[in-house]
Amino acid sequence: AWKFTLYGILAGTTYTVYSLYRETNPYNQLPQSTTFPNGSKRKTIVILGSGWGSISLLKTLDTSLYNVVVVSPRNYFLFTPLLPSTPMRTIELKSITEPVRAIMRQRKGEVTYYEATANDIDIKNKKLTLQTTCHDDNENMQRELQLDYDYLVVGIGAQSTTFNIPGVYENANFLKEISDSEKIRLKVLKNIETASFLKKDDPERQRLLNFVVVGGGPTGVEFAAELNDYVSQDLKKWLPDISKDIKVTLVEALPNILNMFEKSLIDYTQTFLQKENIDLKLKTMVQSVDENIVTAKMDGKEVEIPYGVLVWATGNAPTQLAKKMMNDLKEEQTSPRGLLINDRLQMLGAEDSVFAIGDCTFHPGLFPTAQVAHQEGGYLAEQFKLLHQLDQCKWEMNTANTDNTKELNKLENKLNEPFKYIHRGTLSYIGAERAIVELTIGDNKFKMHGPFAFWFWKTVYLSMCLSFKNRALVAFDWCKTYFFGRDSSV
Ligand code: FAD
Ligand code: NAI
Repeated sequence: AWKFTLYGILAGTTYTVYSLYRETNPYNQLPQSTTFPNGSKRKTIVILGSGWGSISLLKTLDTSLYNVVVVSPRNYFLFTPLLPSTPMRTIELKSITEPVRAIMRQRKGEVTYYEATANDIDIKNKKLTLQTTCHDDNENMQRELQLDYDYLVVGIGAQSTTFNIPGVYENANFLKEISDSEKIRLKVLKNIETASFLKKDDPERQRLLNFVVVGGGPTGVEFAAELNDYVSQDLKKWLPDISKDIKVTLVEALPNILNMFEKSLIDYTQTFLQKENIDLKLKTMVQSVDENIVTAKMDGKEVEIPYGVLVWATGNAPTQLAKKMMNDLKEEQTSPRGLLINDRLQMLGAEDSVFAIGDCTFHPGLFPTAQVAHQEGGYLAEQFKLLHQLDQCKWEMNTANTDNTKELNKLENKLNEPFKYIHRGTLSYIGAERAIVELTIGDNKFKMHGPFAFWFWKTVYLSMCLSFKNRALVAFDWCKTYFFGRDSSV
């Protein structure tokens, strides 16, 4: 047994040292070129986005087989599962981001990156229009660029939906990006400072301290839990008068929150949140929002909820570009919920050249989660390897007159294998160092909740971080918060 332990430790240490070396030293990359040494064309793949789907593809794709171009207005990957922990600074923002350029330089073949937004796709001519925003000292200069592609991968994610409810867009905060997290933080801290100016019986003071979260999906629950932790663990110590008056409300239209979980875990969470003094308003459908008040229907009656900070987390809607693509391919793209794809992740209407992955798509059985987008990226990397082999096979058949029919058939069969999503489980933080976990191993389901589930949740997310640097920073932030609490300055 000691021998195995020793080998295990040795293998673990070697892997860690090698990974650290790879992470901190760029690869000696193969340059991009128009042809391969045998004269065949080297095709271009343009990947849109730097989120879960696109980065998973970039990390597993053999970039020496194609000219790879990444286009994204966000020059970093964002580890969204820990985003709800950032507004109140349980975790620092920089701990959950990884620069795209660092990821690119760890690939075998050279990768080009454009910090830009794709705003038009000419599917027939395989052309893409990008808009870059170059920040000169005082001036914002926008430039346009045209790109040709052989294959396009659309991994542009989604935007927060408001269901066109009046006033939401103008008054609410969302939680999708780093900038959203920053805005929520500033608003919460500003309200706390303003409230401490006002007399205790001033109704404006109570309104400022009403923090309302709409949407009892995992984003809403995790953020409400983090906010409540900040109030009960930090403000209670440093600003007891204010902390007593803060009220966190979670509003959900359905009879239960976290509907993707098993019933006993939902019941546990709902009881737990109420015990933690989160005001849980179920069967409450928000209908309009103004500067200070949320108006909702609760059991058929109209209720008004005054708020100081409103965080809106009611799910996803397609982005502008996705809507434009759906409009351009009206006949094939018949769902308003996202880009329709087939089992090989090819976009309907442009199957020969466009693939779509992650939250921008709509496909029965595939949910808009990081888990799905990540697995889709991995599958596409494998598909691109097969497509390259197929191209080479055809090239040899044409130029050297070799009979590669058997090999060709084998590759085509492999290429036709559909994407199969393997659901590994769902986790959610619910506050006060508790989490709920539902694991799927083969056909078996395991569930747990409470402090042990919280440690499991931490271990899983730590292991899922993209780099050793992120892992170290997140672990450090957790320790810092545990010993010193959260920072309440701007
Ligand atoms: P994203 O990761 O959103 O990336 C989209 C990328 O496209 C971005 O880089 C964006 O800048 C870029 N882009 C947008 N428009 C354009 C354009 N026109 N041109 C070029 N680039 C463009 N899922 C889980 O499985 N587990 C979790 O714990 C979890 N927690 C979450 C917590 C929060 C707060 C949120 C908001 C989501 C969470 N999710 C979680 C869901 C998960 O984040 C998404 O499913 C996942 O990010 C989808 O990946 P994606 O690649 O499709 O899109
Ligand atoms: P969601 O779609 O999961 O939940 C939104 C909730 O808002 C629903 O319960 C809905 O009933 C409610 N709602 C809608 N309109 C409303 C209204 N007018 N008034 C009151 N309530 C209303 O959305 P969420 O949480 O933003 O998540 C988006 C995606 O990201 C999901 O697929 C989710 O699974 C994934 N995610 C996963 C996480 C995890 O696994 N821990 C964490 C965060 C997100």
